Amino acid sequence: MISRRELLALAAAAPLTAAAGAEDPDPHRPRYHFLPPRNWMNDPNGLVWHEGKYHLFYQYNPNAAIWGDMHWGHAESADLIHWKHLPIALAPVPGGYDKDGVFSGCCRVYDGVPTIFYTGVSPETQNIITCNGALTEFKRYAGNPVIARPPAGMDLTAFRDPCVWRDGSEYRMAIGAGLKGGNGTALLYTSTDRFHWTYRHPLASAAGRDDGEIWECPNFFPLGRQKWFLCVSSTGPIRVPFCWTGSYRDLRFSPESPRQKLDHGGYYYAPQAFEDARRRLVIFGWIPEGRTKAEQVAAGWAGVQSLPRVLGAASDGGLTIEPLPELSVLRGPQLDPKNIRGDSLEVFAEFPRKRPAALSLRGTHDGSEQTILDFAPGAATLTVDRQRASLNSGTDRDRRTVPLDLPASESLRLRVFLDRSLVEIYVNGRTCISTRIYPTRADAIGVKVLGEPTALEAWEMRSAL
Ligand code: FRU
Repeated sequence: MISRRELLALAAAAPLTAAAGAEDPDPHRPRYHFLPPRNWMNDPNGLVWHEGKYHLFYQYNPNAAIWGDMHWGHAESADLIHWKHLPIALAPVPGGYDKDGVFSGCCRVYDGVPTIFYTGVSPETQNIITCNGALTEFKRYAGNPVIARPPAGMDLTAFRDPCVWRDGSEYRMAIGAGLKGGNGTALLYTSTDRFHWTYRHPLASAAGRDDGEIWECPNFFPLGRQKWFLCVSSTGPIRVPFCWTGSYRDLRFSPESPRQKLDHGGYYYAPQAFEDARRRLVIFGWIPEGRTKAEQVAAGWAGVQSLPRVLGAASDGGLTIEPLPELSVLRGPQLDPKNIRGDSLEVFAEFPRKRPAALSLRGTHDGSEQTILDFAPGAATLTVDRQRASLNSGTDRDRRTVPLDLPASESLRLRVFLDRSLVEIYVNGRTCISTRIYPTRADAIGVKVLGEPTALEAWEMRSAL
């Protein structure tokens, strides 16, 4: 393996350059990932393409950079990459069924009408809002809540985040839930008119505690011609989105692939998938902060959306995950591979499968700050080493080893999107790792590649907001 000393020596040899973003008042704020102008954001909601525009709604607290008082923020885009902020779409109605918060949900276009299905609290109920074509006017359905309580006899720890789809001329809904003292589950409802719903049975359930005690934010979609894709955000022993591919028959989902983590970085959560204008299955996920609440509040913002990722069916029955190809429009000048530096970059590196390799990011000239991605060919793992990511000990600084799905016949292909405090890593179109880093020094812009790359390309990235 490459020794730490070797890496530090190389980092030290890099020339000191001008500080990146020296005039920027907030060097940690991402520039090409979506986030609201200020305050707290969590789950993506209501993703939909309608009348030539994409709409991204999101869980939003308009009053502070911490979770609370859930509204739906709103942005629109022509390409899923450049977003325009729009006024807040949905706010809790005092005294109403969503008086304590407008929680997560989806948006589908049925009979030409964009229709939002979401959870109001408290208690948790499922509700419908219809929209005009521009999704600027929102009308609460007079019959809300359309599902006023959990199924009779069920003692639940959660009952939220509806995902709706069409099955022939009928409608189906999966609701995220947890059984008291039991496991996570997605409850299946059916409807002939999308306003009146009947509970059937679980669409799928956790096989054990390890699969999660509550399943939040279910996503259920066809994948290719034969398969279906189920993704749930599991809370329990770990908090992570799990997904499976499998079959859907008699209103039940049967997994046919091993459970897969949609992202291995420990942040990415509550993703939402939808079908884009080209009928690709595209997914966004929430990436929270890795620093203290006090620092979030001082910064005035918290939470970022991942880049749009395209999901596909792999030939082995698993899942492929790639960044949306059109993201290349964000590429600015291509950088000399011998001299890559910056805090807003895309880097692509390919390495022989059998040799050690590493990539360090956001390194200072003396190596006192740097984040290292370290590939171990024997174990086929990638270690994300943030122990020196920041001199600020109040930020997350750990080491996480991620197993890669990497057959011996393939070379290692790393695509890294660095956006100041956010790093998204895509490995061979199958493994994603999103993480957060908060370097303190203005010269923490060095990139080093160790090993024998057979390809190395890097671009400065333009701002998207
Ligand atoms: C997931 C979640 C959802 C809920 C929303 C509330 O992060 O807990 O289950 O609807 O966030 O903000």
